[in-house]
Amino acid sequence: MSECIKPLITAEQIDKRLDELAAQINKDFSGKTITIVCVLKGAAVFMCDLAKKLDVITEYEFIAISSYGDGTESTGIVKITKDLDQSVCDKDILLVEDILDTGNTLAYLTNYLKSQKPKSLKICTLLDKPERREVEGVEVDYVGFTIPNLFVVGYGLDYAQKYRNIPFVGEMCFE
Ligand code: IMP
Ligand code: MG
Repeated sequence: MSECIKPLITAEQIDKRLDELAAQINKDFSGKTITIVCVLKGAAVFMCDLAKKLDVITEYEFIAISSYGDGTESTGIVKITKDLDQSVCDKDILLVEDILDTGNTLAYLTNYLKSQKPKSLKICTLLDKPERREVEGVEVDYVGFTIPNLFVVGYGLDYAQKYRNIPFVGEMCFE
């Protein structure tokens, strides 16, 4: 069985959407310092490109979680594998994620971050797959693209740790 990637969202489309998201975030956080909490590893590419378009002051924090193993189905059990370095207590947080799928990860991370008593918490995800939702009540403030129920790679997203460096988002196919 060979692997192939069918383009779904081009690099140009991503760049244009990031301009729109950044404009909204700049407006919403005007005069504040944003603590960006990037969910490793998938959101790293998105977070760096988005952050370059922000004109508010930002601080970076990284958190790593595991839920997927190396397959295309979430195990549903979220584990923190790398915690925040600094306290986010009293900070204005922008949590940046690559994709909202079942919702298990963001539900877990939202609870975890809220328990640290930030001043505010907003969530930004590059992709949203609403058809796959298992957890109710996960509310995101900024969504790049809503996509159908496909397993996608590229622009930070992986299949078995591969294809994160592809500059566009594509559907993972097995032929
Ligand atoms: P959730 O917990 O099911 O919402 O899944 C969120 C996490 O699963 C994301 O942070 C991704 O790392 C991973 N994920 C979900 N869908 C995909 C996909 O289509 N491609 C690659 N990773 C995915
Ligand atoms: Mg992820």
